[in-house]
Amino acid sequence: MDQIEQVKQKTDIVNLIGQYVPLKKAGRNFKANCPFHNEKSPSFMVSPERQIWHCFGCGEGGDAIEFMEKIESMDFGEALKMLADKAGVKLERVQYDSAQGAKKDRIYQMNHLVSEYYHYLLLNHRIGKEALDYILKRELNRKTLETFKIGYSPNSWESVLRFLKKKGFTAQEMVEAGLVIKNPQRDSYYDRFRGRLMFTLKNHRGQVVGFAGRKIFADAQDNEAKYINTSETPVYTKGNVLYGLDVTKETIRKEGKAIVVEGEIDALASFQAGVSNVVAIKGSALTQGQLELLRRYCDTLLISLDADLAGDLAARRGIELAEKLGFSLKVVILTKGKDPDECVREGVQYWKESIKKALPIYDYYINKALEKYDVSQADGKKAIVKEVLPILAKIENLIVKDHYLKILSAKLNASVELLLKEIEVFEKALKLNSLTTNQVVQIAERPREVTLEEHLLSLLMQSFNPGIYEKELDVLKNYYQNDLLKKILVNVTNFLTQQKNWDIKKFAKISPIELVPTIDRLFLEDLKIDSEEEKDSDFRRTIREIKINTLKNKMQKISKEIEKTTEEKMLNKLTLEFEKTTTEMKELSR
Ligand code: CTP
Ligand code: MN
Repeated sequence: MDQIEQVKQKTDIVNLIGQYVPLKKAGRNFKANCPFHNEKSPSFMVSPERQIWHCFGCGEGGDAIEFMEKIESMDFGEALKMLADKAGVKLERVQYDSAQGAKKDRIYQMNHLVSEYYHYLLLNHRIGKEALDYILKRELNRKTLETFKIGYSPNSWESVLRFLKKKGFTAQEMVEAGLVIKNPQRDSYYDRFRGRLMFTLKNHRGQVVGFAGRKIFADAQDNEAKYINTSETPVYTKGNVLYGLDVTKETIRKEGKAIVVEGEIDALASFQAGVSNVVAIKGSALTQGQLELLRRYCDTLLISLDADLAGDLAARRGIELAEKLGFSLKVVILTKGKDPDECVREGVQYWKESIKKALPIYDYYINKALEKYDVSQADGKKAIVKEVLPILAKIENLIVKDHYLKILSAKLNASVELLLKEIEVFEKALKLNSLTTNQVVQIAERPREVTLEEHLLSLLMQSFNPGIYEKELDVLKNYYQNDLLKKILVNVTNFLTQQKNWDIKKFAKISPIELVPTIDRLFLEDLKIDSEEEKDSDFRRTIREIKINTLKNKMQKISKEIEKTTEEKMLNKLTLEFEKTTTEMKELSR
């Protein structure tokens, strides 16, 4: 057995997934609310027998390794390694070390070493004294500097270069880690970060993915940026880092809320002041990746960003994204200072008060628009409606939507009905523009036979002793209309004639590979029936429905052909067939 199989076999998938979402027994399987999309009733299923999972809501699914990849945003090698460690399987290097995985490992190692090196220089070396004075003056204390591994990059062209060379890394590797830059003209290398206060950027698992370096002297007569960040590397994507999350995630989970601020120093100031459920997005817009990451820990976001950025959030569909993920959003309006760092320094109480008074995002947008335009003028009203109504229109919860439409209607002195009409008008326009062929296909109804045929297979595969249906099954295959499902049915039937007992694991193993995803999905379908008797009566009812449905389709087909045919012989044949089908139908309906 190869090592991947070994790891999977030694991993109890129910136990593993149960650590992320509470699983409830459902027949032979377990179910939960899907951790990968927002839902109110569970469509996420786990099978202990097949050691697989599948969500009928969002369509994601796979084995234990794929679950870890997705929930922890790991690549295959990382997930395998983590599960192997848990299961006590010792991996031979070649097994998991894809070239890409090995490269990432080396980058993490370099980053980790450099983070320690910068940190040491800031706290313990005279070279970092100026930087230390600067940051202490900004009222961050030593403990905070240690918790977040703040450091100093010496003002030299090759200190990291030399440091990492001594540790056995090549200049090319350092370039790949974004720590060193190559000068193409002279074919030489130099440090990216020089003479800066260094923030260690970690992912939520605490691995060092990169750095941000802040200029220490704001008045320095150079044109270098105030902040320099690691370039994109195999382990660092700008939009995917939430600064602080590795330290603050537990508090965020406990409180169910995350405060989202812009800068590293804002996050640190808040953390140090005791408001520790905070992350910084480093001046960029909130991305889907960041939102998904946060969604694992909380369902409320308190946004404390520049007014511009909060506005941007709407423009970039940030709200829509966040709403889809089930977040409730609030906007923090600072009672003092221009950013959270300044607010905290004026007094923690101001920061805490600002957070407590955070406005639900819709109130915030309504207020903003009312400030911006003159509500006593027709033009002003028009502008407010144009700005706010599209946002309110997208609120999914009808009670909440109604609440805000009423507020807006009162402010504008216009009826709610009128606002609803206005929404209708622009939604119609929107639909016409955006209905792609893809969506049309999705809207198209699933044929009834597929639903029935799938349901029967689910019943069959989830029952403990499907052998008792052998006779029925043999006949049934003539009524199956969907080719793929028919193949599965035939295979199940054959399996049951050849083997004494039904064994889903064995069955999946010997099935053609192209059938396995469907088999797994059907095996996991939540039937919401537990007793074998209920399954039995459902089984018989479904068989009958399948037959009736197929015969109906057949009759329709024959009548169409009869209409078209002019040839007498053919007509007689079709008529005979039609009569036969009708008789069979009558017998069934009796
Ligand atoms: N930023 C960046 N690159 C820049 C400028 C800013 O990555 N060239 C990010 C940093 O994470 C910074 C945040 O955007 O913390 C906000 O920038 P800004 O408001 O200019 O700085 P402050 O956070 O106020 O920084 P400080 O308090 O250190 O002056
Ligand atoms: Mn600041």
